[in-house]
Amino acid sequence: MANIVILGTQWGDEGKGKIVDVVADRFDIVARSQGGHNAGHTVWVGDQKYILTLIPSGILHEKLTAIIGNGVVIEPGHLVREIETLRGIGVNIGSNLMISDRAHVIFPYHRMMERATEAKAGKVAIGTTSRGIGPTYEDKIARRGFRMADLLDREAFEPKFRALAKEKNCIAEALGIHEPWDIDEIYAEYCGYADVLRPYVTDTATYLAQQLAAGKTALFEGAQGTLLDIDHGTYPFVTSSNATAGGVCTGLGVPPTRIDAIFGVTKAYVTRVGSGAFPTEEHGPAGDVLRDNGHEFGTVTGRPRRCGWFDAPLMRYSSAVNGFDSMVVTKLDVMDHLDTIRVCVAYERDGERMESIPSLAHELESIIPVYEELPGWRSDTKGLRRYEELPDKARAYLDYLQEQSGVEVGAISTGPERDEIIFRKGTKLAAMLPA
Ligand code: IMP
Repeated sequence: MANIVILGTQWGDEGKGKIVDVVADRFDIVARSQGGHNAGHTVWVGDQKYILTLIPSGILHEKLTAIIGNGVVIEPGHLVREIETLRGIGVNIGSNLMISDRAHVIFPYHRMMERATEAKAGKVAIGTTSRGIGPTYEDKIARRGFRMADLLDREAFEPKFRALAKEKNCIAEALGIHEPWDIDEIYAEYCGYADVLRPYVTDTATYLAQQLAAGKTALFEGAQGTLLDIDHGTYPFVTSSNATAGGVCTGLGVPPTRIDAIFGVTKAYVTRVGSGAFPTEEHGPAGDVLRDNGHEFGTVTGRPRRCGWFDAPLMRYSSAVNGFDSMVVTKLDVMDHLDTIRVCVAYERDGERMESIPSLAHELESIIPVYEELPGWRSDTKGLRRYEELPDKARAYLDYLQEQSGVEVGAISTGPERDEIIFRKGTKLAAMLPA
């Protein structure tokens, strides 16, 4: 058995939560390396809908240990509520959950700073999830953040917290963005969270190293997607962490040599929430069909997602950065009744053909996709479980995605349920994740 990574290939919401849930029972550990409660993973088990934002979705499987790594930023109140909600619907959470002592903590001033900067006149809003994610990573990089370990060490925490909180209030006031909040109240509230979370907090990197050395296997689950990565994404319209393969190593303390395979998840089309360039966005009726059929509304913020066509140059880029061994195509059934389907195969800018995306945001805004049109299959694929059952035109579409992006299609998700998935025989993915 191998240790694998599952990542989003585009702007998040590719359906990673379901794929992780489907394969998780083959592993001993499931671990999350970055992001915070800006992520929302929806998993359906029968009629029960689970939305997980901080806890890895593998927790839904009894025998697994779920790890929240050092690269994640944690809003402790949110985590406490997520634990309670999951328990309330019968999910066992105890020693099977581990939280890194080095994970950074989100405070109310982070959210306040974010709201203020997003609303600032003259600044292009990123369209963030307003969860304080960016400002928390800012404090981490500036070496003034608080980690879970600090929160637990009350004696040392109190004076440092009070000093920093005062400083934050001064900055806010100087910028004219002060939203009053009570330092004593927040201190007491966070001490309460620390008491609840204390049993779960530990040195997860050492734990992982020991477990992997002993032959246990791990599934590393990404949040957001490659094009939201702080380094490789469509900057500045990105999140503030590394959502690409390298982020798994730094965000968990896992050596690259421990990773055996990397699988990318993509929808059969593309979506994006928030601002920023989206070359293949479809503003016509087909975009509405994708949004309505695919229920494309944000899990965390409820915002309608922008919808568009599969972008092969983006997938080539995503694969170059992550080294995908295989891709999982989700929500194929959402496209079942389209007459024609477009696939972007290259871009054009000022009359010149381009094979990859530019780094500058305004250049990315101005590129024009070059499309190939394929006929739709116009029949139901929902719930199909064998590749041979797919209509010829749906298989031709998948072959085309594979050919254009240079990444094999290893599995296809045909609905939200655990068993609505096709593992394609003879692929690397099927070989590593035997049914
Ligand atoms: P932040 O992560 O809240 O700072 O938001 C930065 C950008 O990332 C915004 O465009 C968000 O909509 C986007 N984003 C953050 N998390 C997710 C996610 O889980 N799915 C999709 N988009 C996300």
